[in-house]
Amino acid sequence: MGKKTTVLLVLGVFTAYRVYTPLPDTAEEPWKLTCLSVMLKTAIDLATVAELVGIGHCMSIIMFFLRLQDVSPTSEENITVMDTTFNSVPVRIYIPNRKSEALKRGLFYIHGGGWSIGSNANFHYDSLSRQTAKRLDAVVVSTNYRLVPKYHFPTQFEGVYKSLKWFLRRDVLKRYGVDPKRIGVSGDSAGGNLAAAVSQQLIDDPDIKIRLKIQSLIYPVLQTLDLETPSYRENVHFPPLPKSLLLRFLSEYFTMDRAFEKAMFFNQHVPVESAHLFKFVNWSSLLPENFKKGHFYNSPTYGTSELAKKYPGFLDVRAAPLLADDNKLCGLPVTCVITCEHDLVRDDGIMYVTRLQNAGVRVTHKHIEDGFHGLLFFYGFKSKYRLENEYLSWLSENL
Ligand SMILES: *[C@@H]1O[C@H](CO)[C@@H](O)[C@H](O)[C@H]1NC(C)=O
Ligand SMILES: *[C@@H]1O[C@H](CO)[C@@H](O)[C@H](O)[C@H]1NC(C)=O
Repeated sequence: MGKKTTVLLVLGVFTAYRVYTPLPDTAEEPWKLTCLSVMLKTAIDLATVAELVGIGHCMSIIMFFLRLQDVSPTSEENITVMDTTFNSVPVRIYIPNRKSEALKRGLFYIHGGGWSIGSNANFHYDSLSRQTAKRLDAVVVSTNYRLVPKYHFPTQFEGVYKSLKWFLRRDVLKRYGVDPKRIGVSGDSAGGNLAAAVSQQLIDDPDIKIRLKIQSLIYPVLQTLDLETPSYRENVHFPPLPKSLLLRFLSEYFTMDRAFEKAMFFNQHVPVESAHLFKFVNWSSLLPENFKKGHFYNSPTYGTSELAKKYPGFLDVRAAPLLADDNKLCGLPVTCVITCEHDLVRDDGIMYVTRLQNAGVRVTHKHIEDGFHGLLFFYGFKSKYRLENEYLSWLSENL
């Protein structure tokens, strides 16, 4: 076999492997998904190669290219948009221009991106915030926070919390004309994780007199204990968030130590001393029958306590809001959780819905049957518009 043939063969096999994505029959618009998957895999492969040859951390390289999608804070006819800082955390604020005597509703938004990428200035987030401000006639504060690989837990949490606390000051609310009785927190993916975490943290914070009216969590990541729930089992390769990528995001939120990621891969990162926490994420008791999808519950497997001693963050309720007990959960505001069918963290969201119901919190669950993780930002998928509409109409009715 000549050299050229070998090269062609290798390239052919490689391409076929990259194009092939085992998608379930129920996936809506499978061709679009396949294209999306190829593009994302290629981007991650390129970033990984760049990392291997020492150009930089994979996520920093992806972030570099994502930055090209950033837009400046441009005001328009009906909304004033500006960048500023809240307690030294950068935020972008969207203020409706419509004059009225009444105070406006306020929404604090936290972007996603695996605690490693993303920005409030990203075109997609900027456009969602504009749309929210217009449709709800609300003041939207879209916050940034410091990212992996430079920063790890709890920096991301603390940054968001600092910025939210600043927003909740009476003088700040007054300056932006926001009604202190109608404030909510929203976020998607890792931003949904942070939104759930800060909402819990506010409950017992003696500095904060103002209560949130609502929280809205879009395909949130809510636990790091059981990485073998039915949704984890079913969506190992589903774009745009295959398990390999989610484990990288999850592990690097706490540390760059690859031994931790490896332990997570085998679902053996939790030490036996933390066995009592599994009841909070027990999908066998927390998922409604129709979401168990015929899977059998395996009892937890344990690892050494060494990793948990070194990186205790992953057992911290500020990183895994599902680990809060009922006494805490019952203090939460009215909640909406949006989950997608083809998503590793689908069951995180559904378990949280059950736990909040059990704790007596008013909670709405919206499930997007054909949806997948990150859907909010994939134009051209019908389910994206459904999700967006469900999200905004719930906010409009409940905030
Ligand atoms: C601004 O608001 C007015 C009144 O509601 C509306 O007629 C107009 O189309 C809006 N402009 C834009 C650019 O959306
Ligand atoms: C999970 O729940 C099932 C029943 O719903 C129970 O049999 C099992 O012991 C529980 N496991 C843990 C670790 O809580």
